[in-house]
Amino acid sequence: MKKRIIAAGLAGLVALSLVGCAGSDDPATEGSSSAPAPTTSSAAPIQEEGYNLVPRDINGDGVITLGFAQVGAESGWRTANTKSYQDYFVEANGFELVFLDANQDADKQKQDVRDLIAQGVEVIDLAPVTDSGWEPVLQEAKDAGIPLIISDRQLSVDEDLYLTYFGGDMKAEGERAAEWLKKYIADQGITDPINIVHLQGTIGSTAQKGRTEALDEAAPANGWEIVYQQTGEFTQAKGQEVMESFLQQGQAFNVIYSENDDMTYGAIDALRANGMNPEEYIIISFDGNKSAVQMVVDGLIDVIAECDPLLGPQVGDLINKAAAGQTIAKITYSVEGVIDSTNAAEKLLTAFGS
Ligand code: AHR
Repeated sequence: MKKRIIAAGLAGLVALSLVGCAGSDDPATEGSSSAPAPTTSSAAPIQEEGYNLVPRDINGDGVITLGFAQVGAESGWRTANTKSYQDYFVEANGFELVFLDANQDADKQKQDVRDLIAQGVEVIDLAPVTDSGWEPVLQEAKDAGIPLIISDRQLSVDEDLYLTYFGGDMKAEGERAAEWLKKYIADQGITDPINIVHLQGTIGSTAQKGRTEALDEAAPANGWEIVYQQTGEFTQAKGQEVMESFLQQGQAFNVIYSENDDMTYGAIDALRANGMNPEEYIIISFDGNKSAVQMVVDGLIDVIAECDPLLGPQVGDLINKAAAGQTIAKITYSVEGVIDSTNAAEKLLTAFGS
């Protein structure tokens, strides 16, 4: 058994002031662990659902202009996601891309979408920072005759307000992670109390809400205790900061449930900076960036619940189909699984070529 269940606190630990960073945000080394074929969760034709805006080249310049309202640049996942749009939405594929970065600011992002409407882009793709307050903005896009796609983070809004959703099923990702932990505990014969440090993503984002809800349900159902729950805002720096502040409390824990790879890198940095060995904890992460998959191979991270960032071409395919008059599903979820010691090496090879 690789992991020992130990009660760890700061007492008796030697603090190390300088340690290397656990992960990398280098886009060349990050990105998706996979780009599998998506699943459609609803086969209902858009025409029957009342949404009648069809993507098209309105100004007749030979390309469809896609305005992309992106969340920000907070993580390796996000960098790979942005690149997939920049690579795909080019003239050679019949598109032009107008890219706006909300810098993780939900209010700015609403203004970004309004700016895209004012610019007269022909299709809008919205990856929402958080999930509230969108109805008026989406209505404005519809009133302007601009088809709007929601990607990456789902919204609970009237289906008449958007063409389609494409991206992860965030709660299912959390459920996969919790199921993995349950099985791991059983397989390893672990009888110690399970005390979980929970690093959350951006509060109010669907990615945070789904992954948090899954753990909040699984913990009482399995007798696990969540000893700390704090947002690390999906960034490595904030992940390290909140992990550090938990460690200062000197409380026992044996599991880290970190809602993305970047916060996981930060948590590992914090452990090392306090003289603790990450390999002695069960570490659960989300996304599947290359550095994180390598850390599974190296025994630092135990499991990653995948989240596919390479949405650009898949969104492009949906736009093309809708533009050609084909029926597209209202909701399409990326196909995602988990990466652990049983498949990480293969993932590195198949998804990243090394
Ligand atoms: O919405 C997807 C999430 O956003 C990713 O899991 C995280 O890394 C990113 O910031």
